[in-house]
This record gives sequence, structure tokens and C-alpha cells, in this order.
Amino acid sequence: MRENSYVVEMKNIYKSFGGIQALIDVNLELKYGEILGLVGDNAAGKSTLMKILTGVYQADRGRIFFEGREVHIVSPRISRQLGIEMVYQDFKLCPNLDIPANLFLGREITSNFFKTLKNRQMESMAVEILSRLKIGIKNFKIKTSRLSGGQQQSVAIAKAASFNPKVVVMDEPTASLAVVEIRKVLDLILYLKEQGLSIILITHRLDDIFEVSDRIFVLKHGRRVTIKETSQTNKDEIIKLMF
Ligand SMILES: Nc1ncnc2c1ncn2[C@@H]1O[C@H](COP(=O)(O)OP(=O)(O)O)[C@@H](O)[C@H]1O
Ligand SMILES: [Mg+2]
Repeated sequence: MRENSYVVEMKNIYKSFGGIQALIDVNLELKYGEILGLVGDNAAGKSTLMKILTGVYQADRGRIFFEGREVHIVSPRISRQLGIEMVYQDFKLCPNLDIPANLFLGREITSNFFKTLKNRQMESMAVEILSRLKIGIKNFKIKTSRLSGGQQQSVAIAKAASFNPKVVVMDEPTASLAVVEIRKVLDLILYLKEQGLSIILITHRLDDIFEVSDRIFVLKHGRRVTIKETSQTNKDEIIKLMF
């Protein structure tokens, strides 16, 4: 038995930018193995809250607990070391590099002399990572800019997953995708959950939230409105709570 059922707890989080109170006394709890949908109107503070969790911003006040232990996430590097990965709307891939180069960017497998060997090893590991995630991309060696938007997002998610995180935060991962591609990204998110990961999903697409999430967190003008079990609510209610 775990002593604590939450992988992440954010407590009494405040953040302001100049005169703007972006977050006011926000509490967020993420359960082990759940998909938590995070919704709210534009400027509600969703991205800011997640950037605090991933070390991009520091809260003005508040505490964060990871697996029951208080942590001080002072940088993205610390967040990653804890096992938290972030996936953004705009992929953050290097468009002129191929898939293996993108997956291993900044942590290339190095050998002093045999550069070709190293490349082949990264390629076979990339094949393994993508097949493990059931991402069917045939041509690994083309620049990622030539992949479809959905394929690029899948590679970005694969990259996040390849760090073996415990928590993945996704900020509008389907926002720039065509409808047919959204389906594949949602399947990938559900697959990560099956593997035991805990996921926070920000999206404007309430249909997607209702399809994949276990619980829904509503943020409004920087304040937590509620967390509801997805099965205990509906779109009309969530929209009323959001606006
Ligand atoms: N780096 C920043 N500098 C100044 N204001 C910011 C910054 N980041 C966010 N904000 C402000 O904080 C508020 C919440 O923004 P954000 O977290 O991006 O909302 P959401 O993701 O819900 O649309 C907005 O008023 C936004 O303008
Ligand atoms: Mg945002």
C-alpha cells in the first residue's frame, strides 16, 4: 500500500505577473495512474500552474509534494529528475533533424570513435521506443518537418515517454492537429495511462476530456472551481463552471 494516493499535490499556490494575479490559492491533486483533465477559459491560469509544476516558473507562495514528499522544483531539470515531463502544443522538435536525432537530442549516445555505430544504436532504440508506443512511422530518416502534425506530436510524446517519467503534463497537445490525427494522439495518451503513468491533460476540446479523463479540474480566473469525477458530470455542467 502506498501511504499516499497522490503522485502530485500542489498546495495553496499563488502566482502573479506584475499586477495580474494568475493563480490564487490553488490546490491540485493528481492520483497515481489517472488522467486529470485541466480546463478553463483563456487566461484562467492553466499553463502557469503547469509551468510551476515543471519548473519553468516559481510560485510566489505554496508547496508541492511529489509521491508524498515535499519538493522544491526550482528548474525544469529538477522537474525532469523527479519524473515529470511536459508536452506542448507546438511539439518543440527540431524540424531539420530526423526522429532518432530528435529523441536523443541533448543525450546522444556517445562513443569516442565509432560515430556510425552510435547512430545505428540510436536508430534501433528509436525504432524500439516508437514500436513500444505503437506509433507507426515508416521512414525514420526524414526530417521531422516532413512528418504530419500528428506524427510530430507522437514523436514529441514518445520523446517525453522515453525519459521513463511518472507524470506527463500535456498542454493542448492536439490543438494544431487535424481531427483524424487527434484520435491517434488520444489513443497514445490512453496507452501511456495503461502503462501506469499519471497524466495531466489541458485542452479546449471538452469531447476529448470526456473521452479520456478520469477527473476534471476546473480553473477560473486563477482559482480552483472544482475537481469532479468525469463519470459524475457532463459537458453542460463543466461549461457552466468554466464561465
Ligand atoms: N510570462 C508571463 N508574463 C506576464 N503575464 C503572464 C505570463 N504568463 C502568463 N501570464 C498571465 O497569466 C494569466 C494566466 O495565463 P495562462 O496561465 O497562460 O492561462 P491559460 O493557459 O489558462 O490560458 C494571463 O492573464 C496571462 O496573461
Ligand atoms: Mg495556456
